[in-house]
Formats: sequence, C-alpha cells, structure tokens
Amino acid sequence: MARLGLPALRRSTPVRLAAFLVALFACVSLLSFGVTYLVIRNRLETGMRADLEQTMAGFSAAPSASALAALIANQGAVTDPSQRILTYLAPNGQVFGNVALSRGPEGFLYIDLGPNPTGARRDYLGLAGNFFGGQLIVAANRAPVTALAATFLDVLLASLLPTIVIAIGGGLYLARRSRARVDRIVATLDRLSSGDLTARVVPMPGAHDLAAIGEGVNRLAVRQEAATEALRQVSADIAHDLKTPIQRLAVQLDRLAAAEGMPETGAALAAEAREEAARIVGTFQSLLQIAQIEGGSPKARFVPVDLAEVARTFAEIYEPAADDAGQSLTLHLPGGPVTVQGDRSLLGQALANLIENALRHTPPGSRIAVTLHGGAQPVLEVADTGPGIPADERQNVLRRLYRLERSRTTPGSGLGLALVAAIADLHGAALTLDDAAPGLVVRLAFGRPDGAP
Ligand SMILES: Nc1ncnc2c1ncn2[C@@H]1O[C@H](COP(=O)(O)OP(=O)(O)O)[C@@H](O)[C@H]1O
Ligand SMILES: [Mg+2]
Repeated sequence: MARLGLPALRRSTPVRLAAFLVALFACVSLLSFGVTYLVIRNRLETGMRADLEQTMAGFSAAPSASALAALIANQGAVTDPSQRILTYLAPNGQVFGNVALSRGPEGFLYIDLGPNPTGARRDYLGLAGNFFGGQLIVAANRAPVTALAATFLDVLLASLLPTIVIAIGGGLYLARRSRARVDRIVATLDRLSSGDLTARVVPMPGAHDLAAIGEGVNRLAVRQEAATEALRQVSADIAHDLKTPIQRLAVQLDRLAAAEGMPETGAALAAEAREEAARIVGTFQSLLQIAQIEGGSPKARFVPVDLAEVARTFAEIYEPAADDAGQSLTLHLPGGPVTVQGDRSLLGQALANLIENALRHTPPGSRIAVTLHGGAQPVLEVADTGPGIPADERQNVLRRLYRLERSRTTPGSGLGLALVAAIADLHGAALTLDDAAPGLVVRLAFGRPDGAP
C-alpha cells in the first residue's frame, strides 16, 4: 500500500468520522463539566452562607456585650484568620477577635488583615451585625470556591486530552486499514479493466462492507471471464468450421479457372475469387492462431531463445523486400546472445509481423531499424520513419481486425498486431507503441530474464 499523505488522510472517511466524534465528545464534555461546576460552586456558596448565618445566630445568643466580647476573644484566639475572620468592635472602641478592626469617621470601619505571608488569595464572604452597640463581623475565606475552578480545569484536561489523542490515533489506524482495503479493490479493478480477467479481490475478513464490494467485484469478474471465454470459443469455432469449406471452395475455383471451354474473362474472375478465398483462409488461420495462443498455448514448450539470432534471421529475410520497396532496414544488436524463455517460432512471427508492418504501412524511402537491447530485461524494438499511429489509436490497432482508415487499400487483415499482442502476453512481455518522431516504434520488453548465460 502506498503510504498515505496527510492531505489524503484528512479526506479519509474514518479520520473525518473520528474528528467529528472528538469534536462532539469535547462539546458534550465541556457542557456537562460546566454545568457540574456551576452546581457544585452554588452548593459551596450556599453552604458557606448558611454556616456564616448559623455562626452569627450563635453569637447573638450572648447575653451582653462583655459576654460576646469574651466569646469572640476565646474563639478568635483559636481561629486562623486566613480561614475565618471573627472580630467584635465593642461600643467602648475595644477590638476582640483575630483581625484588627477600628472605627473611622461617619460610621466607617477599617479592617486590617495584616501581612499575608502565604501569598494565597484572600477573598472572603462576610456577614456583619450590630450587637449591643458594637459591630460583629464574621467572614469565611472563599478559597474552596476559587480552588474548585482550577480542580475542574485539571480534571477536564486530564480526561479530555487522552480521549482526543486516542480517538485521533484510532481514526488514523482505521483510515490506513480501510485505505489498504480500498487500494486492494482498486488495484483489482485496474487489472480487470486493463484486460486481466483472472484478477480477483482477496477475501478481507472482518471488513463487512468492503468485503461485500470485493465479493461483488469478484462475481462480476467471474461472469466477465466466462463471457469472454465463450466469445473466444465461438469465434474460434466459427473460424474452424468455415476454414474447410472455404478451402474446398478455393480448390473448386482453381478447377473452374482451368475448366475446358472457360472464356478468358471467366478464368480471370475465378482466379481473383480464388485469391480472395485464400485471403479468407489466411484470416481464419490467424484468428485461430490468436485464439490458440490466448487459450494458453503450453508454456512447457518454452526453451531458451536467443533474441539476437531471431532478429538477425528476420532482418536478413526482409532486407531484399525493403530494398525492393526503396526502404532501408538496419539491425542493431548487442555483443553477445540475448536469451529469453520462449517459443522461438512465435517470437519470430511477432518480429516478422512488426517488420512487415513497417514495410507495408510506410512510404518508399522510409528507414526501418530493428534494435535489440540486452541486459536483465531485454527489449526488442522495431522503429520506422513512416506516418506513425496517432496516440488515441495505439490501443485500438492491437484489436483483432482493426485497421486505420488510411490502410483500407493496403493489403492485410488487421490481425498482425493482435497476434503480436497475444505472443507478448504469452511471454510476459510488455508491448508498447510509441511515437518515433517521426514514425512508429514498437517495443517488446521482456520482464523475466533467462538466467542461463
Ligand atoms: N509501422 C506502422 N506505421 C503506421 N501504421 C501502422 C504500422 N503498423 C501498423 N499500423 C497500423 O495499424 C493497423 C493494424 O496493423 P496490423 O494489426 O498489423 O494489421 P494489418 O497490417 O494487417 O493492417 C494497420 O492497418 C495500420 O493502419
Ligand atoms: Mg500487419
């Protein structure tokens, strides 16, 4: 599987789903945390108020100013002013409790909490009351309330962050896994659409939806393969069944041409018809041969074949024809033999078809070059300087009976390249048609080199 880039991952369904769930979870968490925080804070404040009111009520039960002063003095001595303030300003101006309190003009009170050594927040909730002409103040530090917010924030982060990390990690993992499966299906579809009908999606346990798609693709492939096979069989059968009667027809036409008392024009027509019949037989033979090769001609017959020797032989055979047509045929070979496993006569026929095309479909004066590249992956190529084949037709000419419009009047049946394609396929070689600028170059690239020296 190709490694997934970040942009591809971001577009992947599981990652999007994970991101959406994380966002949803974060929103819900924030909301529920917020509500819980407000409720708890409210309870704390209410509890604090009730406590202060109760304390105040307790002191109000004192019978006199001096009794209250004594009470405050006692309790104040044992109460930490950073937690709770208790102070009574008696009518005579005397102060009792744990905090300094003094009277200012116009009824104002000065409260002095003194130095704050701990540096903690001093945020108090207080209650004041008039008792026996003096002022009583009780107050409680709101630290529990302020600490609550920090605690909540800590808990929120501690629970939310791992969730986000885990969810995104899980999403990425799922995305990679499902991507790998999608890639497998796509690869199979690619092979199927490029003509390899034996391609199948390997079973994917545990992936129900994708596995169903894979099985669908496989069913389609099985049907397609069967249909193609049936078609191939039918065309082979037709070619086979018609070959014999047409051969008989050719013989009869021969006899007709030579028959006694046959006028000259009749004999000429019979000879023409005889040639046409011969062409038909040739076409049928080629069709049958292609069907045979495609049907998996036994590879057991494969032997080491020296491509250099094949190229040399066929270049020699076609050189006179090239000279006659005013064309030149040159051969470029590497130093030694170039061996591949194959069927020598089929490989020779493929090369012959390519050279014949280069002779037939190019004007006089064209140069034809047969080149062999050795090495681990040998390449046999035939290039010419003719009109070439337009890029959008290069796939079509490999089809059976397909010929370019301009070749209508050139002899041939449109089966030459189809046969080359079948032979290339049988040998596991890649067949490519390219622009030789000008002209056409056809390459046969052999993938499996023969280990033999
Ligand atoms: N070397 C070439 N240069 C230009 N066109 C070519 C060449 N080879 C093949 N073609 C085109 O491809 C078509 C198919 O070729 P082929 O299958 O060999 O059939 P045929 O040669 O019998 O026409 C040809 O009819 C021709 O139009
Ligand atoms: Mg041809």
